[in-house]
Amino acid sequence: MPWQREKIFELLEAYVFTSKNTVNWRFMEIDLENQTVAQIVGAHYRTAEVFRRYGIDFCCGGQAKVADVCRRKGIDLAQLQAELEDVLEQPLAPQEDFASWSPKLLIDYIEERHHTYVRQKLPLLLQYSKKVAKVHGHGHPEVIALAKWISALADELEAHLEKEERELFPYVRQLVQAYREGQASPAVSSDHLEHPLAAMRAEHEHAGSLMQKMRQLTDGFTPPEYACNTWRVLYQLLEEFERDLHQHVHLENNLLFPKAASLAQALV
Ligand SMILES: [Fe+2]
Ligand SMILES: [Fe+2]
Repeated sequence: MPWQREKIFELLEAYVFTSKNTVNWRFMEIDLENQTVAQIVGAHYRTAEVFRRYGIDFCCGGQAKVADVCRRKGIDLAQLQAELEDVLEQPLAPQEDFASWSPKLLIDYIEERHHTYVRQKLPLLLQYSKKVAKVHGHGHPEVIALAKWISALADELEAHLEKEERELFPYVRQLVQAYREGQASPAVSSDHLEHPLAAMRAEHEHAGSLMQKMRQLTDGFTPPEYACNTWRVLYQLLEEFERDLHQHVHLENNLLFPKAASLAQALV
């Protein structure tokens, strides 16, 4: 796969790139009082699973300081710190070390893994949710609302992926190319990125809020005891889809976009 083929070069490039910037993504200490959720997950991807267990948003709502979120939600800060440190003590597989990846490698990975996943699963979600709404909607109006929200999410995500693949990602690839060649391309400007990045972040936020509404509507994707198999599969798939979307948005919001913005700054 392309993202594996160039991995060694990309890691070397990422190391050079990282060392030239003020944020050291790889070796940041965990400080729950002063760091945001996004900063910690950005530096240590594996902490995402711990935050997810505690119901702490690490993608769209990741800009809040961890200690503030814990106080608001009544989470024991010391316990959370212990669990985060625990997860970091486990050996890291190289392919999980996203914070060290260059923008180009991140884009290749996001397209091949997450965009492909979204395009594979959306038709299934649409099909199952329509079927469940048709068969069970009379006694459970929530599944009718759910089918509408899934349809809205599908429309939004399809358009969103297109924009990233046709406009934003090719532009970031151009930045990487210019950086490699040591040139300040006339087409490169930090202004070119500011608006698209803000627009993509806003769309992530909206998709995340739709998923959150669906989670609330379905009591955390819990089907009734008497639910048929399609209903059960629909909720399992939705939960899996939410998890994938969180990881996808995290890679873009917290890693790719800041790296692309730093790259544009370095080239101006
Ligand atoms: Fe994406
Ligand atoms: Fe995106």
